Parts: sequence; structure tokens; C-alpha cells
Amino acid sequence: MNKALRRAVIAGNWKMNKNRAEARALITEMIPLVKDADCDVVICTPYTDLETALSLTEGTNIKVGAENCHWAPSGAFTGEISADMLTEMGVEYVVIGHSERRQYFGETNETVQKRVRAALSAGLKVILCVGETLAEREAGITEEVIAIQVKIALAGVSAEELSRVIIAYEPVWAIGTGKTATDEQANEVNHFIRSLVGRLYDEKTAAALTVQYGGSMNPGNAAGLLAMEDIDGGLIGGASLKAPDFAEIIRAASR
Ligand code: 13P
Repeated sequence: MNKALRRAVIAGNWKMNKNRAEARALITEMIPLVKDADCDVVICTPYTDLETALSLTEGTNIKVGAENCHWAPSGAFTGEISADMLTEMGVEYVVIGHSERRQYFGETNETVQKRVRAALSAGLKVILCVGETLAEREAGITEEVIAIQVKIALAGVSAEELSRVIIAYEPVWAIGTGKTATDEQANEVNHFIRSLVGRLYDEKTAAALTVQYGGSMNPGNAAGLLAMEDIDGGLIGGASLKAPDFAEIIRAASR
């Protein structure tokens, strides 16, 4: 379905890595390596690195994202950051619903939905993460799990707003484990997500949707994954912390 019409998006998810000095070094090394990318390049960093990332990437092709945001515009939510605070800084993207937040910080499909709404209302672009656990895959309920995650997260999101949403399929069993989904396994779920969006919205909206794969993507497996019809980019953890590796994945996505 029109892969050639979709621009690939390669996004780094730094997770809880890199202090300011380390962030400065990584981004400085990265800038010349990715400047000719023929895909969108995003780095999602800890809140404490956002200012550094924004100032260093000014005038480059690297866009900056955060790794989460709260759903309220402001208020008594100690330790949280609002979507408006991010846009005010100049942040363009935000990751929402990452499996580590679902696993360790009580994130549910309902709170994901609230965060997605808040982020879109604030004008951010959302990288919405979905994915099944190993137990769910082995129980044969991958599609059911993904469908519930996608349907709840996107409830109330208009087709116009969906143009600012990227869905990242990240099988939980492939994250940080070195165990990647095969090209076919990843493409199958990405295709399912696109078809589901086609049913929830329409074919045109589904054809335009960017669906990434994430989970142990690296320079060795990126080209195969990114060549698949329904894989429009990657959400990269570990390999995004090394400039040459990240740049190699970006080269694989540039077409
Ligand atoms: P790894 O690339 O380290 O497996 O992490 C994937 C991920 O969780 C990106 O959000």
C-alpha cells in the first residue's frame, strides 16, 4: 500500500541515558553523519537533554522529541511534564505508551489515550508505541492485544490529527534483548495495524500512516526490516546511542 509515498522516519529513543555532556558529544558526532539522510531523523531524549538537543540541532535535519508527557496542561502532578511545556521549548515529537512505561510505571491504555490527546492538542507529533509480550504472542493473541492498544489510544483522534501520529510496533520480547522480530513477523503486525487504521478511518488515511518497527533494530538487520512493504522506519533504542550505528540505520532507510 503505497510504501513509496511514505517518507521513512528513523527515531532514536535514548531512554534514561546520556547526561548533558554525553548528549552534546553524541549529537555533535551525529550531525555530519546524518546530514544527507533521505528520511526523517528524530532523537527522543531525557527531559534534561532537550535544551541541549534543541540548541545543537538548530538548522540541521535532526528533530527533537521527548519520551513522555502528562495529559494535564499544568497542576499538582509532582514530577510530571506537560505537552505544552514541551511545545513551548520547541520540542516537536513525543513518545507515548512505550512498553517500559506500561511495564514499570503503571501506564494503561486509558492513560496512553489521555496523553495522546493532550500531545496532539498541544501540537506535538506522537510516536505511539504498541506491542505484545512474549506470553501474549505464545498465546496467539498478538492481533487482539495490538487492536485493543490501537483502538483505545486513538479513540477520539480525528483523521486530520492522525497525520501527526506515527505508530511504532515494538514487540516487548524484542526490546533490548537482541532478539529481533523477523522481517516477516514485523511486517505482518505492521500490516495488521495499517489495515486496522483503514477500518477505523479510511484507506487513504491508512496508506499515509507511518508505521515503524522497534526492538533490537541495528545496522545488521535494518535494511531487511526497512525494505518490507509496511515498515516505514524504526524506533531505535540501544543503537541510537552510537552515532555510527544510528547513521548506518538512517542510510538503510534513505531511498
Ligand atoms: P532496543 O533498540 O534497545 O531494543 O530498544 C527498542 C525500543 O524500545 C525503542 O523504543
